Amino acid sequence: MAREIDDVLALARRLAREAGAIQKGRYETGFRIDTKSRPVDLVTEVDHACEAHLVAALLRERPRDAVLAEEGRGTDTPGATYRWVIDPLDGTTNFAHGYPRFAVSIGVEREGEPAVGVVYDPLLDECYHATTGRGAFRNGQPIRVSRETAFDRALLATGFAYDKRENDDNLAEFRAVLKTARELRRDGSASLDLCYVACGRLEGYWEHKLKPWDVAAGGLIVREAGGRVTDRDGGPAWRSGGEIVATNGTLHDALLRVLSDAQRG
Ligand code: IPD
Ligand code: CA
Ligand code: CA
Repeated sequence: MAREIDDVLALARRLAREAGAIQKGRYETGFRIDTKSRPVDLVTEVDHACEAHLVAALLRERPRDAVLAEEGRGTDTPGATYRWVIDPLDGTTNFAHGYPRFAVSIGVEREGEPAVGVVYDPLLDECYHATTGRGAFRNGQPIRVSRETAFDRALLATGFAYDKRENDDNLAEFRAVLKTARELRRDGSASLDLCYVACGRLEGYWEHKLKPWDVAAGGLIVREAGGRVTDRDGGPAWRSGGEIVATNGTLHDALLRVLSDAQRG
């Protein structure tokens, strides 16, 4: 099995770099921008071009695997051992505005469990990867979460769902963390936020209402870098998207507490 996981990892890393090259080539050029669920939920022709490239390659090279991809090109292969969970461009609003923070995110499950995660930032040429039980890496070098133990010295990040105008908007939690941690970022790419927790640039990250493709790769990378990843109740439901809390481990309970106090008002 280790050999097969190595092959899956090698393919995921190659494909992430290929999709990243598409992003880098089209960044700050003209491209069509459409909206999806609401006017603030964007999709560009580059999201589609990356996904088409990734899914076509998987159909060719891994025809027995299932694929879940954000823009809908996935294939449901009954009984598949492997499932690829793909965000072809994570950080679309940034990309559309020429803000240099976006990535390709590719997670692979084996028998329903996280097995491989790859997140590639093409502008910084940073490729994060992890395989279950074998640690986390950036450009081949091992990474670890931060050792910080004090919440008031922590740098944290969060994000807001596209229905923020109509529904629960994360503002109470945002305010509570802003007032208690050292600083707080909202930088627009969930997969990179998770990788930044994994490599110690951030102490923690949380968000409501994510999708499986936002967290499949980054969640495994945080875990393999020694961090902790849960839902808002401290449980494992983060993988289906929904709520995620990812930290260096040491500050996990403190962040869960601040968030639940804020939610209770
Ligand atoms: C979004 C980004 C953003 C997060 C949103 C996601 P997309 O993904 O990860 O940081 O706050 O919740 O939907 O739409 O750019 O792939
Ligand atoms: Ca995303
Ligand atoms: Ca996306």
